[in-house]
Amino acid sequence: VKSIAVLTSGGDSQGMNAAVRAVVRSALYYGVEVYGVQRGYQGLLNNDLRPMDLRSVGDIIQRGGTILQTARCKEFMTPEGQQKGAEVLRERGIEGLIVIGGDGSYQGANKLCKLGIKTMGLPGTIDNDIPFTDYTIGFDTSVSIVVDAINKLRDTMTSHERSSVVEVMGRHCGDIALYAGLASGAETIIVPEVPFDIDQVANRMKENFASGKRHSIIIVAEGASTGEEIGRGIEQRCGMEPRVTVLGHIQRGGSPTHNDRILASQLGDFAVRKLMEGESGKGCGIIRGELVVTDIDKVVNTKKPFNMDLYNLALRLSQ
Ligand code: F6P
Repeated sequence: VKSIAVLTSGGDSQGMNAAVRAVVRSALYYGVEVYGVQRGYQGLLNNDLRPMDLRSVGDIIQRGGTILQTARCKEFMTPEGQQKGAEVLRERGIEGLIVIGGDGSYQGANKLCKLGIKTMGLPGTIDNDIPFTDYTIGFDTSVSIVVDAINKLRDTMTSHERSSVVEVMGRHCGDIALYAGLASGAETIIVPEVPFDIDQVANRMKENFASGKRHSIIIVAEGASTGEEIGRGIEQRCGMEPRVTVLGHIQRGGSPTHNDRILASQLGDFAVRKLMEGESGKGCGIIRGELVVTDIDKVVNTKKPFNMDLYNLALRLSQ
C-alpha cells in the first residue's frame, strides 16, 4: 500500500484528532502517502481531499472535535454513492482508507471494502457501543465530563436535600450512564439494556432519604428514557420535585483524557500497520490490553454485551 486516506464520520468524539495524528504520522513513518478527507463520506463524494504532512497534525493531540470535520451523509448510503466514493479514491491512486467513527461509519467502510478499497475502522464514539473493543475513543473523556458534572450537582443537591435526575447520551448503549453512575455514586442508573420500573425508582429515592441520605442522584441514558419523563414520574409518586439536568453535547467536547489519547494513538498506528499487511474490511480494537482486528461484518452485526456485574456493583454500593 503506497497511498491511504483517513476520514472522521458520524458524531465526533474526543480523541479523534489524536487518532488522525497517529494515522498520519505512522503512515509517513512507514513511507506511505496519506490524505485527509474533509467532512467524512460527504467530503469523499465531493473529492475534498488534501495531502497531509507531519506538521499538518501538529498541536491537535489535546484538542476535542476533529480537524477533518465530520458529517452524516445520506448519499453515501446508496450503492451509487458508494461506487462514486470508491471511484474518487481510485482516480487518485489511493488504495486504503481508515474510517474513524461509529456503527454507521463502519458500514460505509465495509461497502467500500467490497468495492475493492482496503478499509479499516477505528471505534470513534463517546457511546462505547462498538463491540470487540473494551473501549471506544472518546468514551473515557465523556464519562469524566459526566462525573465532574455530577460532583457539582451533588454539592447543591446536598445543601437543599434534593434529588437530581441527570440525562446522559447513549442512544442504544448505557455505558456512559453505567460508568459515570458507578464512579459518581448515583443511587439509580437507568439504561436501555435493563428494564426499569418508575415505581421502584421512586421508592428507592424515598428509601434513600428515609435512611438519612441528604441527596439522591438518578442517572438516565437517553436511549432508556428522558430526564424530563423520569423527573415527572418521581414527582407524581413522591410529591418531591427532582431537578433535571440534560448534559447534551457538552459530553462530546473538550480536551481528551490521557486514556483516550493513548487509545487513539495505539489504534491509529495499528490500523496503518494492518493496512500495510494487506488486511481489509476490519475494525480495530483493544481487548484486555491486546490490539485486535475483527471483520466489520461481525462488528456491525453484534451487540456489545452490557456489563451486568458493574451494574449490580453500582446498586450494591449506593444503598
Ligand atoms: O453517537 C454519538 C451520539 O453522541 C449519541 O450519544 C447521541 O444520541 C447522538 O450522537 C447525538 O447526535 P447529534 O450530534 O446528531 O445530535
